[in-house]
This record gives sequence, structure tokens and C-alpha cells, in this order.
Amino acid sequence: MRAPPPGTLGEMCGIVGYVGHQDAREVVLEGLRRLEYRGYDSAGMAVVADGALTTAKKAGKLANLEKVLADRPLPAATIGLGHTRWATHGGPTDRNAHPHLSADGSVAVIHNGIIENFAALRAECEHDGVEFASDTDTEVAAHLLAAAYAAAPEGESRLADAMRTVCRRLEGAFTLVASSAAEPDTLVAARRSSPLVVGVGDGEYFLGSDVAAFIAHTREARELGQDQVVEINRDRGVTVTDFDGGSVEPTSYTVDWDAAAAEKGGYDWFMLKEIAEQPQAIADTLLGRLGPQGELALDEVRLSDQELRDIDKIFVVACGTAYHAGLIAKYALEHWTRIPVEVEVASEFRYRDPVLDRSTLVVVISQSGETMDSLMALRHAKDQRARVLAICNANGSTIPRESDAVLYTHAGPEIAVASTKGFLTQLVACYLVGLFLAQVRGMKFEDEIASIVADLRRLPEAVAEVLARMDSVRELGRSLADANTILFLGRHVGFPVALEGALKLKELAYIHAEGFAAGELKHGPIAVIEEGTPVVVIVPSPRSRGSVHGKVVSNIQEVRARGARTIVIAEEGDEDVVPYADHLIRVPRTPTLLAPVVTTVPLQVLACEIAATRGLDVDQPRNLAKSVTVE
Ligand code: M6R
Repeated sequence: MRAPPPGTLGEMCGIVGYVGHQDAREVVLEGLRRLEYRGYDSAGMAVVADGALTTAKKAGKLANLEKVLADRPLPAATIGLGHTRWATHGGPTDRNAHPHLSADGSVAVIHNGIIENFAALRAECEHDGVEFASDTDTEVAAHLLAAAYAAAPEGESRLADAMRTVCRRLEGAFTLVASSAAEPDTLVAARRSSPLVVGVGDGEYFLGSDVAAFIAHTREARELGQDQVVEINRDRGVTVTDFDGGSVEPTSYTVDWDAAAAEKGGYDWFMLKEIAEQPQAIADTLLGRLGPQGELALDEVRLSDQELRDIDKIFVVACGTAYHAGLIAKYALEHWTRIPVEVEVASEFRYRDPVLDRSTLVVVISQSGETMDSLMALRHAKDQRARVLAICNANGSTIPRESDAVLYTHAGPEIAVASTKGFLTQLVACYLVGLFLAQVRGMKFEDEIASIVADLRRLPEAVAEVLARMDSVRELGRSLADANTILFLGRHVGFPVALEGALKLKELAYIHAEGFAAGELKHGPIAVIEEGTPVVVIVPSPRSRGSVHGKVVSNIQEVRARGARTIVIAEEGDEDVVPYADHLIRVPRTPTLLAPVVTTVPLQVLACEIAATRGLDVDQPRNLAKSVTVE
């Protein structure tokens, strides 16, 4: 397995392929609609009809491609492939949109990932007289495939044969899907360190970056491993080999959510729907893991009790919102297990040579299970012989597949780019891991664990209560739509919540926002506060450890004295904050370590409302992609 070197460029995209009996134009376009959240700089499609490949592609969102297709429809076909792009290599233009064709037009290719050695391969093609039509790394694959196809022995699986030949020459991380005008019943795909799943319907076959691409048609899926090539053929079905042609039996699984889960269901935005789904997502993540007496049963954790007892250090490694979940997890893990915990952004982890050994547990948190920075951190940890536990939402994705143990969150598909239910269920999963470790290592009495478990069981209702009161938060959001900057303050577990509130606002509303540890404010950041600066303060429970509550109340007074407009999130019954809150958002009383599950929710709603008021695309914020599959 070859890891791409740091700082490399590539594509992060949505990929769809179809061979069957339906109108491929419709099936592929519908798949692209469901995958648009993976990339939306440009989109394209190709079909094979009457022995020829025809493509359509357009820069911008999928709607632009749909307009092109309405004006100039592709020919009717039952085989096709499509792509939504998040450009990193070559600008988001029509000519760089996928699919890319070989010079003779015989082969079409779509791609997600990085072809590391594309410059050398491009020079080689150009030396052979090929003229390139784009600035992408992808196009070399199309030219190489056409050449390998011409050189491959005649036979049933010539395109697959050519794909294997090409893949053996490619360096980096990639998913490739190819179609040949000469093989109107076959699509061939390859994957290395980049996502690809196969869907199996009744006489029809699908390829997708994730199951959302085909869930409207089938829930039967095949998982592909590292360095594998799959051929889907109308008659022969699914055939998987390694890059050398050795036969491979793919793992089959049934997707446990249906097409409705990936629909907006009457909401204006997926994000709003996903926020509303949080009580259920938490309940589903707890389901089956808590025994009748409150004891924990985590049978997906495939590490022996002895291995768990031997752990003397935990690293939590993740990116973005998942990293914030890790920061919160540290408080609970250390408090419950007394094992030292370090939390680190995945993109930094392996580059500083962390001290890891067999008694280190590395917890990798990732909603998508495909984030390249997290995957590379995982591989580094395994190389150093550490144990790796993945907390992940996407079944069958790369990160859980490569981990020693997995705890799945059951949030269902998260389509909005901004993570919401993914985050809350990650928190719940972290709590479960902490309690499990405490249980196995005898760090807590049974009744203590049972009491925390009872608190966990109350979380879905607590989140539902918060959601029921969000009208005033939405109104507040509308009044903040013109703000230039918004600050977020928190202490203890409220500090990572402040970071998460600021991230949500930045990514959705494009407003400058920062989260601070409230106690740090006086060490510098307080200088930025001016008359009217909105400051959101996450107030810990008055029952929290030490006197942190009183200190945060003082922090509110400090910023207010300097002109801040204070927006205070505090639990019911906390009267101390009332005199200093310009806006008061109440949340139900929740034990301190679990409080982030409820205090985060108003921040999600606030960011969503501010973005919507500013007329922005809440589900697909500019410059972002849902699943960041490049480093
Ligand atoms: O799929 P992952 O959880 O690994 O994704 C990690 C981050 O890219 C992700 O949380 C990102 O920060 C979100 N856009 C936040 O809303």
C-alpha cells in the first residue's frame, strides 16, 4: 500500500456508474443529485449508445449540467457514468470537468483522488503525440487506458485487463471508473485509498462513492478493498480482482437505511432535517449497547479485555467537527478511566512523530470514514503498532475497515456538508467508549456506570426539548445576519463547544468567528471586543466541578462591560446569568460531561439561520466538500 506524500493535490468528488435495464441518463443524474454534497464545482456524464461514447459536462453546480442536458439530451442508453467535482487540480472549468476522454474518444474516465505521478505520465503521453484537453491529472488515465486496451488480448474482460495494467503504473490515491465504446455492457472501476462501493440490484449494477448514489434502487452492496478492480457487466455481474488479476471475493452487506433517509423530507435544507433527527440518531447510537441493568455491551470492539487493560495512553485523532468531539471526549475519558488522553488534528499527527506503542490506543473519529488526513494518521498509528479504534458513521468505509475495532454511530446518512447529527452521535460514541474502558478496567463501580448510562438514556429527550424551543434562536439568528464577527466563549467541555459553534458559523455563514477558552480572554482576545460585538457564552452548570460557573459569569460581565452583546446559553434554573444576558437561551439540566450534547444544538440552529438569512446555500457552503479525501 502506498501512502500519498504530504501536500499533494487531487480531486474529491462524487462518482456514479450504472449498467442495467433502466434509462442510464436518469439513474446517473439522480445518483449525482444525491452525491452533489461531495463536490459541486462542476459535473458531467457519459453514456454508451450505438457503439459510441457521448459526454456532457459543465462547470458549476449540477443544475448547470441539468440545463445543458435539457437543451442537448444525451442519447438513450442503459449504461452510463457521472461525476460531481471538487476541484483541486485544474480550475473548476468546463474543460476540467469529468468525464475525460482518451484522444480517440474510445474511453471515458471519471476519477476521485490523486494521481501522484501524473506529470511523468503526461510527459510520456505527450511524447507519444497525445494532445491533452484539460489540466487535470485524471486525463492521463483516459489516454493510458485507451493504449492499454488496444494492447490487451481480445476477450471478455479486456477493459478490466487494461484497467489493471494502468493501475499498476499509478501512484497516489484514486477511484477510477471507465467505460469503453467497444464494451457497451461493462463498466470497470478501481480503488486505492479512495471510496467506492458497488450496488447490486435485480439485473442491474451500480457504482458509487457512497451508497447514497444507488440507495433508491438497491440496498445490497459490495465493499471493495484496497488496490482492487471491479467489473460490472450486464450478463456476468460483479467480478473483483486485485491489481494483478487475482480473484477476490468482495464483502457483501445490506445498507441499513432507505432512500427516504437521504431525502429532505419537507425541510428547506438537509441540515435542518439532520438537526431535527438528532434525538433519534442519539437513541439509535445507544440502542443495543446498554444492557438491562445499565451494563455496557460493545461487541463491535474486537480488542480483548487484556488488551484494553494494557492501554496506558489514548490519542484521539480527527478533523474539523470530529476533532471537536475528540476534545470533549478527553474530559470524559480521563475523568472516567484515569488514562491520559491527547487529542490531535489528524493532519498534524503523523508529522510530529508521536510516541506510540502496543499499549497506546488511537481513537480515530470520522463521520465519513474516508477523510484522508484521518486515514493517514490511522495508518501511521498501525505502523507504530498502536491499537486503533474507529468511531465512524459510514458503514464499510475505509477507516473502520482498516481499524482494529469499530464503534459505529447510527446517525443515518449525513448529507449537509456541515456536520450536526454526526457530531452529537460521535460524542455519544465517545462516552460509550469511556464507560466501556472504565468498566473493563474496573475504574468505576457498577452503580456509578449505571447512573451515567441512565443520564445517557435521557439525552434524546433533552435534545428534543432544546429543539422545541428554537424559535427565539432563529429570530436571534436573523438579527445577527449582518454581523462582521461573532465570538464564542466556553470553559471546560464548553470550550470545544465554543470552537464548534465558531466553525459552524464560519463554514455556513462565511462570518469571521472564533471560539475561546473563556479564561484566556483576558490574556489578549478581549482587545477585539467593540461596542455591539456579539459574544456567545456557553455557561457550565452551577453544579459543575470547582467554581468554573462563577468564573464564566464573571467573564460575561467582563465582555459586557466592554460593549459586547451577550448571547448566553445556560441551563434552566441558573439565575446568576440573567442580569448579564442580552439574549438568554435555556437548555435542560444535564450532567456536566454530557452537557455538550445539548449546548451545541442552539449553535447549529443559529449558524443555519444566519446563513439562510444571508441567502447562502446552507447545505453546500462555498469551497467545501463533505468528505475530504485528499491531504
Ligand atoms: O467525515 P469526517 O468526520 O472525517 O469529516 C471531518 C471534517 O472534515 C468535518 O467534520 C468538517 O469539519 C465538517 N464540514 C464540519 O461541519
